[in-house]
Amino acid sequence: MINKIDRFADKSVVWDMNPMIVQNAKEIAKLIVNNIKLKGSMEIMDFGVGTGLLSYFVSPYVGKIVGVDNSPSMLREFEMKCDTLECETEVLEIDLSYEVLERKFDGVISSMTLHHIEDTTTLFSKLYTMLPEHGFIAIADLDSEDGTFHGDNTGVFHYGFDREVLTKSAQSAGFKDVTFTLANTIGKPHSSFTVFLMTAVK
Ligand SMILES: C[S@@+](CC[C@H](N)C(=O)[O-])C[C@H]1O[C@@H](n2cnc3c(N)ncnc32)[C@H](O)[C@@H]1O
Repeated sequence: MINKIDRFADKSVVWDMNPMIVQNAKEIAKLIVNNIKLKGSMEIMDFGVGTGLLSYFVSPYVGKIVGVDNSPSMLREFEMKCDTLECETEVLEIDLSYEVLERKFDGVISSMTLHHIEDTTTLFSKLYTMLPEHGFIAIADLDSEDGTFHGDNTGVFHYGFDREVLTKSAQSAGFKDVTFTLANTIGKPHSSFTVFLMTAVK
């Protein structure tokens, strides 16, 4: 049975007020736009769209973004922002840990969501089936950290990721050309945390 707790209910309204979060999405978007040949004809999915920060910055370069998330409160914030995006949008409330989505996308982008997914290989397999041949994933998340990035680790299944382990996980789902690039460094008072962008193709 799906656990319907909205873990972002108390964060959604203030999410975009954190300049560190906005800057991180901006840096990831910049790298996606520089590394992937996006086209105005493309329909892509933003997995774990949240309030739509990453989508906002990528929207001038694609035709449509489908924002997928399991948090109704985050999706409400995204929905309010949709008019400001420079492409078509669609909002889908789905938990991709438990559900499948029988749709095709030219690519999937994602920022800071993978650490909330317990079984990354199953997730990669689901994304693989949603892509056409040569479709892409561009997924950003934390490199391995000591568990102190989040103040509260409820709902966090991974303290960042070892790049080699994640490469094997993506490859076992069928992905090729798995590549990592440093997207951003997030400085917190107690430590710094690096964020990678992992790209791969079907
Ligand atoms: C840390 S937030 C990042 C939001 C946004 N991508 C950003 O960078 O600002 C993670 C998002 O992933 C969503 N999420 C977590 N697990 C999910 C799942 N299994 N299926 C769909 N969305 C999920 C959360 O609800 C949340 O909106």
